Amino acid sequence: MKNKNCYPVATRPCWSKLATLLAVLLPFAAFADNAKKMEVFSWWTSGGEAAALDALFNVYKKQDPGVEIINATVAGGGGSAARPVLQTRLAGGNPPDTWQTHPGWELLGQYVDPGYCEPLNDIYQSESWDKVLPSQLISILSRDGKEWCVLCGVHRGNDLWYNKKVLDKAGIKIGDTISIDEFLADCAKLKAAGVTPLAVGDSGIWATAQLFENTLLGTVGPDGWKALFSGKMPFDDPKVKQAAQSYAKMLEYQNSDHSALTWDQAIKAVQEGRCAFSSMGDWAHGEFTNAHLQDNVDFGWVSHPGTAGGFIVVADGFTLAKNAPHKAEAVAWLKSIGSKDAQEAFNPLKGSIPVRTDVDKSKFGPYHQWSMKSFATDALLPSCVHGEAAPAAFQQALNDAITQFVVDKNVDAFCSALVQAAKDSNITK
Ligand code: GAL
Repeated sequence: MKNKNCYPVATRPCWSKLATLLAVLLPFAAFADNAKKMEVFSWWTSGGEAAALDALFNVYKKQDPGVEIINATVAGGGGSAARPVLQTRLAGGNPPDTWQTHPGWELLGQYVDPGYCEPLNDIYQSESWDKVLPSQLISILSRDGKEWCVLCGVHRGNDLWYNKKVLDKAGIKIGDTISIDEFLADCAKLKAAGVTPLAVGDSGIWATAQLFENTLLGTVGPDGWKALFSGKMPFDDPKVKQAAQSYAKMLEYQNSDHSALTWDQAIKAVQEGRCAFSSMGDWAHGEFTNAHLQDNVDFGWVSHPGTAGGFIVVADGFTLAKNAPHKAEAVAWLKSIGSKDAQEAFNPLKGSIPVRTDVDKSKFGPYHQWSMKSFATDALLPSCVHGEAAPAAFQQALNDAITQFVVDKNVDAFCSALVQAAKDSNITK
Protein backbone atom coordinates (compact mmCIF):
# COMPACT_ATOMS: atom_id res chain seq x y z
CA MET A 1 0.00 0.00 0.00
CA LYS A 2 1.18 3.47 -0.80
CA ASN A 3 2.34 5.39 2.24
CA LYS A 4 0.71 8.79 1.95
CA ASN A 5 3.34 10.34 4.19
CA CYS A 6 6.12 9.52 1.81
CA TYR A 7 6.78 11.58 -1.30
CA PRO A 8 7.78 9.67 -4.41
CA VAL A 9 11.44 10.30 -5.04
CA ALA A 10 10.82 12.46 -8.10
CA THR A 11 8.61 14.93 -6.25
CA ARG A 12 10.35 14.86 -2.86
CA PRO A 13 10.78 18.46 -1.71
CA CYS A 14 14.23 19.75 -1.64
CA TRP A 15 14.50 21.70 1.62
CA SER A 16 17.55 23.63 0.60
CA LYS A 17 15.76 24.87 -2.54
CA LEU A 18 12.77 25.90 -0.45
CA ALA A 19 15.00 27.82 1.91
CA THR A 20 16.56 29.65 -1.04
CA LEU A 21 13.11 30.49 -2.40
CA LEU A 22 12.00 31.85 0.97
CA ALA A 23 15.14 33.94 1.24
CA VAL A 24 14.28 35.51 -2.13
CA LEU A 25 10.59 36.03 -1.36
CA LEU A 26 10.75 37.27 2.22
CA PRO A 27 12.11 40.72 1.46
CA PHE A 28 9.22 41.15 -1.00
CA ALA A 29 6.75 40.13 1.69
CA ALA A 30 8.26 42.75 3.98
CA PHE A 31 8.05 45.26 1.16
CA ALA A 32 4.41 44.34 0.55
CA ASP A 33 3.70 45.08 4.19
CA ASN A 34 5.13 48.55 3.77
CA ALA A 35 3.20 49.01 0.55
CA LYS A 36 1.27 52.24 0.34
CA LYS A 37 -2.31 51.92 1.56
CA MET A 38 -5.19 54.13 2.52
CA GLU A 39 -8.44 53.26 4.25
CA VAL A 40 -11.62 55.04 3.15
CA PHE A 41 -14.65 54.53 5.40
CA SER A 42 -18.19 55.06 4.07
CA TRP A 43 -21.68 53.56 3.81
CA TRP A 44 -21.80 53.67 0.06
CA THR A 45 -22.88 50.15 -0.80
CA SER A 46 -26.05 50.43 -2.91
CA GLY A 47 -25.60 49.96 -6.67
CA GLY A 48 -25.47 53.66 -7.47
CA GLU A 49 -23.44 54.58 -4.39
CA ALA A 50 -20.81 51.88 -5.00
CA ALA A 51 -20.46 52.85 -8.68
CA ALA A 52 -19.94 56.49 -7.75
CA LEU A 53 -17.42 55.65 -5.02
CA ASP A 54 -15.56 53.55 -7.56
CA ALA A 55 -15.38 56.57 -9.86
CA LEU A 56 -13.67 58.52 -7.05
CA PHE A 57 -11.24 55.64 -6.50
CA ASN A 58 -10.42 55.53 -10.21
CA VAL A 59 -9.52 59.21 -10.37
CA TYR A 60 -7.34 58.80 -7.30
CA LYS A 61 -5.67 55.64 -8.65
CA LYS A 62 -4.79 57.41 -11.89
CA GLN A 63 -2.69 59.92 -10.02
CA ASP A 64 -1.29 57.44 -7.48
CA PRO A 65 -1.51 53.91 -8.93
CA GLY A 66 0.75 52.37 -6.27
CA VAL A 67 -1.67 52.89 -3.38
CA GLU A 68 -3.88 50.04 -2.23
CA ILE A 69 -7.28 51.43 -1.27
CA ILE A 70 -8.94 49.71 1.65
CA ASN A 71 -12.62 50.22 0.91
CA ALA A 72 -14.13 50.01 4.38
CA THR A 73 -17.89 50.14 3.95
CA VAL A 74 -20.66 49.40 6.42
CA ALA A 75 -23.96 48.88 4.59
CA GLY A 76 -27.04 50.80 5.66
CA GLY A 77 -28.42 53.92 4.00
CA GLY A 78 -27.90 57.27 5.66
CA GLY A 79 -24.97 55.80 7.62
CA SER A 80 -27.25 54.50 10.37
CA ALA A 81 -25.14 51.38 10.82
CA ALA A 82 -21.81 52.89 9.78
CA ARG A 83 -21.68 55.74 12.27
CA PRO A 84 -21.75 53.60 15.44
CA VAL A 85 -18.96 51.39 14.02
CA LEU A 86 -16.97 54.50 13.20
CA GLN A 87 -17.50 55.94 16.69
CA THR A 88 -16.18 52.74 18.26
CA ARG A 89 -13.09 52.87 16.08
CA LEU A 90 -12.48 56.56 16.77
CA ALA A 91 -12.96 56.17 20.51
CA GLY A 92 -10.63 53.16 20.45
CA GLY A 93 -7.86 55.10 18.69
CA ASN A 94 -8.19 53.01 15.52
CA PRO A 95 -9.36 55.54 12.94
CA PRO A 96 -9.67 54.93 9.24
CA ASP A 97 -7.51 57.44 7.35
CA THR A 98 -10.57 59.26 6.05
CA TRP A 99 -14.31 58.86 6.52
CA GLN A 100 -17.58 60.02 5.02
CA THR A 101 -19.40 62.78 6.85
CA HIS A 102 -22.01 65.49 6.50
CA PRO A 103 -20.98 69.07 7.26
CA GLY A 104 -22.74 70.97 10.03
CA TRP A 105 -23.52 69.32 13.36
CA GLU A 106 -22.38 65.83 12.39
CA LEU A 107 -18.89 66.88 11.30
CA LEU A 108 -18.31 69.54 13.92
CA GLY A 109 -20.12 67.99 16.89
CA GLN A 110 -19.23 64.33 16.45
CA TYR A 111 -15.75 64.48 14.95
CA VAL A 112 -14.11 67.90 15.23
CA ASP A 113 -15.08 68.78 18.83
CA PRO A 114 -13.85 65.47 20.26
CA GLY A 115 -10.54 65.99 18.40
CA TYR A 116 -10.75 63.16 15.88
CA CYS A 117 -9.87 65.26 12.80
CA GLU A 118 -6.98 67.22 11.35
CA PRO A 119 -7.75 70.68 9.98
CA LEU A 120 -7.42 71.01 6.23
CA ASN A 121 -6.47 74.66 5.71
CA ASP A 122 -3.20 73.73 3.99
CA ILE A 123 -5.06 71.68 1.40
CA TYR A 124 -7.70 74.38 0.85
CA GLN A 125 -4.86 76.87 0.32
CA SER A 126 -2.65 74.75 -1.92
CA GLU A 127 -5.64 73.87 -4.12
CA SER A 128 -7.03 77.46 -4.09
CA TRP A 129 -10.48 76.09 -3.31
CA ASP A 130 -11.67 79.43 -1.97
CA LYS A 131 -11.84 80.52 -5.64
CA VAL A 132 -14.05 77.66 -6.81
CA LEU A 133 -16.26 76.76 -3.82
CA PRO A 134 -19.35 78.69 -2.73
CA SER A 135 -18.63 80.43 0.57
CA GLN A 136 -21.89 79.04 2.07
CA LEU A 137 -20.53 75.53 1.66
CA ILE A 138 -17.13 76.42 3.11
CA SER A 139 -18.82 77.99 6.11
CA ILE A 140 -20.74 74.82 7.10
CA LEU A 141 -17.54 72.79 7.27
CA SER A 142 -15.42 75.39 9.03
CA ARG A 143 -14.78 76.10 12.66
CA ASP A 144 -12.36 78.67 14.12
CA GLY A 145 -11.32 79.68 10.60
CA LYS A 146 -10.27 76.14 9.70
CA GLU A 147 -11.82 73.72 7.20
CA TRP A 148 -12.50 70.16 8.39
CA CYS A 149 -13.69 68.13 5.41
CA VAL A 150 -13.56 68.06 1.63
CA LEU A 151 -16.90 67.87 -0.15
CA CYS A 152 -17.37 65.72 -3.21
CA GLY A 153 -21.04 66.53 -3.90
CA VAL A 154 -24.28 68.06 -2.70
CA HIS A 155 -27.49 66.05 -2.66
CA ARG A 156 -30.98 67.54 -2.73
CA GLY A 157 -32.93 65.74 -0.05
CA ASN A 158 -36.49 66.86 -0.90
CA ASP A 159 -37.31 65.10 -4.15
CA LEU A 160 -40.36 63.10 -5.18
CA TRP A 161 -39.53 60.42 -7.77
CA TYR A 162 -42.07 58.69 -9.95
CA ASN A 163 -42.46 56.03 -12.57
CA LYS A 164 -43.64 57.85 -15.67
CA LYS A 165 -45.36 54.91 -17.29
CA VAL A 166 -47.32 54.06 -14.17
CA LEU A 167 -48.54 57.65 -13.82
CA ASP A 168 -49.32 57.92 -17.55
CA LYS A 169 -51.40 54.77 -17.35
CA ALA A 170 -53.32 56.18 -14.37
CA GLY A 171 -53.85 59.48 -16.24
CA ILE A 172 -51.80 61.47 -13.72
CA LYS A 173 -49.72 64.36 -14.98
CA ILE A 174 -47.12 65.99 -12.73
CA GLY A 175 -46.44 69.67 -13.35
CA ASP A 176 -43.46 71.76 -12.25
CA THR A 177 -44.59 71.68 -8.63
CA ILE A 178 -47.03 69.66 -6.56
CA SER A 179 -48.86 70.53 -3.33
CA ILE A 180 -49.47 68.12 -0.47
CA ASP A 181 -53.20 68.02 -1.25
CA GLU A 182 -52.58 67.33 -4.93
CA PHE A 183 -50.17 64.57 -4.01
CA LEU A 184 -52.66 62.94 -1.63
CA ALA A 185 -55.34 63.14 -4.33
CA ASP A 186 -53.00 61.41 -6.81
CA CYS A 187 -52.28 58.72 -4.22
CA ALA A 188 -56.01 58.13 -3.70
CA LYS A 189 -56.52 57.82 -7.45
CA LEU A 190 -53.67 55.34 -7.79
CA LYS A 191 -54.90 53.26 -4.88
CA ALA A 192 -58.37 53.10 -6.41
CA ALA A 193 -56.76 51.85 -9.62
CA GLY A 194 -55.01 49.07 -7.70
CA VAL A 195 -51.51 50.62 -7.77
CA THR A 196 -49.42 51.02 -4.62
CA PRO A 197 -48.94 54.79 -4.57
CA LEU A 198 -45.88 55.29 -2.36
CA ALA A 199 -42.69 53.24 -2.00
CA VAL A 200 -40.94 53.47 1.36
CA GLY A 201 -38.00 51.32 2.42
CA ASP A 202 -37.65 51.98 6.12
CA SER A 203 -35.78 48.93 7.32
CA GLY A 204 -33.52 51.83 8.29
CA ILE A 205 -35.91 54.23 10.06
CA TRP A 206 -34.17 57.30 8.60
CA ALA A 207 -35.89 56.68 5.24
CA THR A 208 -39.38 57.30 6.60
CA ALA A 209 -37.96 60.10 8.77
CA GLN A 210 -36.90 61.59 5.45
CA LEU A 211 -40.51 61.42 4.24
CA PHE A 212 -41.52 63.33 7.36
CA GLU A 213 -38.63 65.82 7.05
CA ASN A 214 -39.65 66.59 3.48
CA THR A 215 -43.30 66.95 4.47
CA LEU A 216 -42.30 69.21 7.36
CA LEU A 217 -40.48 71.54 4.98
CA GLY A 218 -43.50 71.36 2.64
CA THR A 219 -45.66 72.63 5.50
CA VAL A 220 -43.52 75.13 7.44
CA GLY A 221 -41.59 76.49 4.42
CA PRO A 222 -37.95 77.66 4.41
CA ASP A 223 -38.49 80.40 7.02
CA GLY A 224 -40.29 77.98 9.32
CA TRP A 225 -37.45 75.51 8.87
CA LYS A 226 -34.87 78.07 9.94
CA ALA A 227 -37.07 79.11 12.87
CA LEU A 228 -37.52 75.51 14.04
CA PHE A 229 -33.86 74.61 14.05
CA SER A 230 -32.77 77.87 15.66
CA GLY A 231 -35.24 77.41 18.50
CA LYS A 232 -37.53 80.25 17.44
CA MET A 233 -40.49 78.02 16.56
CA PRO A 234 -41.52 75.20 18.89
CA PHE A 235 -41.86 71.66 17.63
CA ASP A 236 -45.49 71.60 18.76
CA ASP A 237 -46.40 74.60 16.61
CA PRO A 238 -49.71 73.99 14.79
CA LYS A 239 -47.78 73.81 11.51
CA VAL A 240 -45.58 70.98 12.79
CA LYS A 241 -48.75 69.16 13.89
CA GLN A 242 -50.23 69.72 10.46
CA ALA A 243 -47.07 68.27 8.87
CA ALA A 244 -47.34 65.20 11.10
CA GLN A 245 -51.00 64.77 10.06
CA SER A 246 -50.11 64.96 6.38
CA TYR A 247 -47.26 62.51 6.94
CA ALA A 248 -49.71 60.12 8.63
CA LYS A 249 -52.01 60.36 5.60
CA MET A 250 -49.10 59.59 3.26
CA LEU A 251 -48.25 56.50 5.31
CA GLU A 252 -51.70 55.10 4.46
CA TYR A 253 -50.51 54.88 0.88
CA GLN A 254 -47.18 53.17 1.44
CA ASN A 255 -46.24 49.63 0.38
CA SER A 256 -47.14 46.96 2.92
CA ASP A 257 -43.57 45.55 2.94
CA HIS A 258 -41.98 48.95 3.70
CA SER A 259 -40.26 47.83 6.90
CA ALA A 260 -38.60 44.90 5.11
CA LEU A 261 -37.09 47.05 2.36
CA THR A 262 -34.04 49.28 2.20
CA TRP A 263 -34.33 52.73 0.60
CA ASP A 264 -32.82 51.51 -2.66
CA GLN A 265 -35.18 48.52 -2.77
CA ALA A 266 -38.03 51.03 -2.50
CA ILE A 267 -36.58 52.92 -5.46
CA LYS A 268 -36.37 49.62 -7.31
CA ALA A 269 -40.09 49.12 -6.66
CA VAL A 270 -40.69 52.45 -8.45
CA GLN A 271 -38.32 51.51 -11.28
CA GLU A 272 -40.18 48.24 -11.82
CA GLY A 273 -43.61 49.86 -11.64
CA ARG A 274 -44.65 48.08 -8.44
CA CYS A 275 -45.14 51.50 -6.82
CA ALA A 276 -45.69 54.92 -8.34
CA PHE A 277 -43.82 57.44 -6.13
CA SER A 278 -40.98 57.61 -3.64
CA SER A 279 -39.84 60.61 -1.62
CA MET A 280 -36.10 60.41 -1.32
CA GLY A 281 -32.92 62.41 -1.69
CA ASP A 282 -31.31 62.38 -5.10
CA TRP A 283 -28.97 59.50 -4.30
CA ALA A 284 -32.10 57.81 -5.75
CA HIS A 285 -31.05 59.28 -9.10
CA GLY A 286 -27.86 57.23 -8.76
CA GLU A 287 -30.03 54.10 -8.62
CA PHE A 288 -31.96 55.11 -11.75
CA THR A 289 -28.67 55.77 -13.55
CA ASN A 290 -27.21 52.49 -12.35
CA ALA A 291 -30.29 50.70 -13.74
CA HIS A 292 -29.75 52.48 -17.12
CA LEU A 293 -33.07 54.30 -16.89
CA GLN A 294 -33.53 57.63 -18.56
CA ASP A 295 -34.46 60.99 -17.08
CA ASN A 296 -37.93 62.13 -18.17
CA VAL A 297 -38.49 58.94 -20.13
CA ASP A 298 -38.62 56.12 -17.60
CA PHE A 299 -38.86 58.25 -14.50
CA GLY A 300 -39.54 61.81 -13.45
CA TRP A 301 -39.14 63.98 -10.38
CA VAL A 302 -40.54 67.08 -8.76
CA SER A 303 -39.82 68.85 -5.47
CA HIS A 304 -41.42 66.90 -2.63
CA PRO A 305 -44.99 68.22 -2.22
CA GLY A 306 -45.00 71.81 -1.01
CA THR A 307 -41.20 72.22 -1.01
CA ALA A 308 -40.56 74.02 -4.33
CA GLY A 309 -38.23 76.94 -3.61
CA GLY A 310 -36.39 75.03 -0.88
CA PHE A 311 -33.33 72.79 -1.28
CA ILE A 312 -32.57 70.45 1.61
CA VAL A 313 -28.81 70.18 1.46
CA VAL A 314 -27.30 66.75 2.12
CA ALA A 315 -23.63 67.32 1.36
CA ASP A 316 -21.09 64.52 1.36
CA GLY A 317 -17.54 65.05 2.49
CA PHE A 318 -14.47 63.22 3.74
CA THR A 319 -12.26 64.02 6.72
CA LEU A 320 -8.60 63.52 7.55
CA ALA A 321 -8.10 61.53 10.75
CA LYS A 322 -5.86 62.85 13.46
CA ASN A 323 -2.95 60.37 13.56
CA ALA A 324 -4.07 58.91 10.23
CA PRO A 325 -2.09 55.71 9.70
CA HIS A 326 -1.44 56.71 6.08
CA LYS A 327 -1.51 60.47 6.20
CA ALA A 328 0.30 61.33 2.96
CA GLU A 329 -2.00 59.05 0.95
CA ALA A 330 -5.10 60.43 2.70
CA VAL A 331 -4.04 64.00 1.92
CA ALA A 332 -3.59 63.02 -1.73
CA TRP A 333 -7.07 61.39 -1.66
CA LEU A 334 -8.66 64.56 -0.29
CA LYS A 335 -6.97 66.69 -2.94
CA SER A 336 -8.17 64.22 -5.54
CA ILE A 337 -11.85 64.16 -4.52
CA GLY A 338 -11.94 67.95 -4.50
CA SER A 339 -10.56 68.09 -8.04
CA LYS A 340 -12.58 68.94 -11.11
CA ASP A 341 -11.95 65.50 -12.64
CA ALA A 342 -13.25 63.68 -9.60
CA GLN A 343 -16.32 65.85 -9.25
CA GLU A 344 -17.20 65.43 -12.90
CA ALA A 345 -16.77 61.66 -12.69
CA PHE A 346 -18.50 61.10 -9.35
CA ASN A 347 -21.60 63.29 -9.33
CA PRO A 348 -23.33 62.08 -12.52
CA LEU A 349 -23.28 58.59 -11.00
CA LYS A 350 -24.18 59.62 -7.45
CA GLY A 351 -27.09 61.93 -8.23
CA SER A 352 -25.51 64.84 -6.37
CA ILE A 353 -24.26 68.06 -7.93
CA PRO A 354 -20.63 69.11 -7.83
CA VAL A 355 -19.55 71.62 -5.22
CA ARG A 356 -17.08 73.32 -7.56
CA THR A 357 -18.36 76.17 -9.65
CA ASP A 358 -15.90 75.56 -12.51
CA VAL A 359 -17.08 72.11 -13.65
CA ASP A 360 -18.17 71.39 -17.20
CA LYS A 361 -21.96 71.48 -16.83
CA SER A 362 -22.48 69.86 -20.22
CA LYS A 363 -21.30 66.60 -18.65
CA PHE A 364 -24.52 66.48 -16.62
CA GLY A 365 -27.99 65.36 -17.68
CA PRO A 366 -31.47 66.84 -17.20
CA TYR A 367 -31.90 65.97 -13.53
CA HIS A 368 -28.55 67.47 -12.56
CA GLN A 369 -29.28 70.63 -14.57
CA TRP A 370 -32.54 70.99 -12.66
CA SER A 371 -30.86 70.43 -9.30
CA MET A 372 -28.00 72.83 -10.09
CA LYS A 373 -30.56 75.49 -10.93
CA SER A 374 -32.46 74.82 -7.73
CA PHE A 375 -29.21 75.05 -5.72
CA ALA A 376 -28.42 78.40 -7.31
CA THR A 377 -31.85 79.94 -6.75
CA ASP A 378 -33.65 78.20 -3.86
CA ALA A 379 -33.34 78.56 -0.08
CA LEU A 380 -30.57 76.19 1.07
CA LEU A 381 -31.57 74.37 4.22
CA PRO A 382 -29.62 71.83 6.29
CA SER A 383 -31.06 68.33 6.73
CA CYS A 384 -31.89 67.09 10.21
CA VAL A 385 -32.27 63.45 9.18
CA HIS A 386 -28.75 63.55 7.73
CA GLY A 387 -27.16 65.16 10.76
CA GLU A 388 -26.57 68.72 9.58
CA ALA A 389 -29.31 70.81 11.21
CA ALA A 390 -29.22 69.59 14.79
CA PRO A 391 -27.06 67.70 17.29
CA ALA A 392 -26.87 63.91 17.01
CA ALA A 393 -29.06 63.52 20.11
CA PHE A 394 -31.92 65.36 18.40
CA GLN A 395 -31.45 63.38 15.18
CA GLN A 396 -31.71 60.20 17.26
CA ALA A 397 -34.76 61.49 19.15
CA LEU A 398 -36.47 62.28 15.84
CA ASN A 399 -35.81 58.74 14.61
CA ASP A 400 -37.19 57.32 17.88
CA ALA A 401 -40.29 59.53 17.71
CA ILE A 402 -40.84 58.50 14.07
CA THR A 403 -40.50 54.79 14.99
CA GLN A 404 -43.32 55.30 17.49
CA PHE A 405 -45.41 57.51 15.21
CA VAL A 406 -45.42 55.00 12.35
CA VAL A 407 -47.19 52.65 14.75
CA ASP A 408 -49.54 54.91 16.75
CA LYS A 409 -49.92 58.06 14.55
CA ASN A 410 -50.25 60.05 17.77
CA VAL A 411 -49.56 63.62 16.64
CA ASP A 412 -49.54 65.18 20.13
CA ALA A 413 -47.21 62.59 21.62
CA PHE A 414 -44.94 62.90 18.59
CA CYS A 415 -44.69 66.69 18.83
CA SER A 416 -44.19 66.57 22.63
CA ALA A 417 -41.28 64.16 22.14
CA LEU A 418 -39.70 66.60 19.68
CA VAL A 419 -40.25 69.56 22.03
CA GLN A 420 -38.48 67.66 24.82
CA ALA A 421 -35.65 66.59 22.48
CA ALA A 422 -35.19 70.19 21.32
CA LYS A 423 -34.82 71.26 24.97
CA ASP A 424 -32.43 68.42 25.78
CA SER A 425 -30.26 69.33 22.78
CA ASN A 426 -30.29 73.05 23.58
CA ILE A 427 -32.07 73.92 20.34
CA THR A 428 -34.61 75.66 22.57
CA LYS A 429 -33.87 76.96 26.04
C1 GAL B 1 -26.91 60.11 2.92
C2 GAL B 1 -25.66 60.40 2.13
C3 GAL B 1 -25.87 60.08 0.69
C4 GAL B 1 -26.53 58.73 0.47
C5 GAL B 1 -27.66 58.46 1.44
C6 GAL B 1 -28.21 57.06 1.41
O1 GAL B 1 -26.70 60.33 4.27
O2 GAL B 1 -25.33 61.74 2.27
O3 GAL B 1 -24.64 60.15 0.01
O4 GAL B 1 -25.55 57.79 0.50
O5 GAL B 1 -27.29 58.76 2.75
O6 GAL B 1 -27.29 56.11 1.85
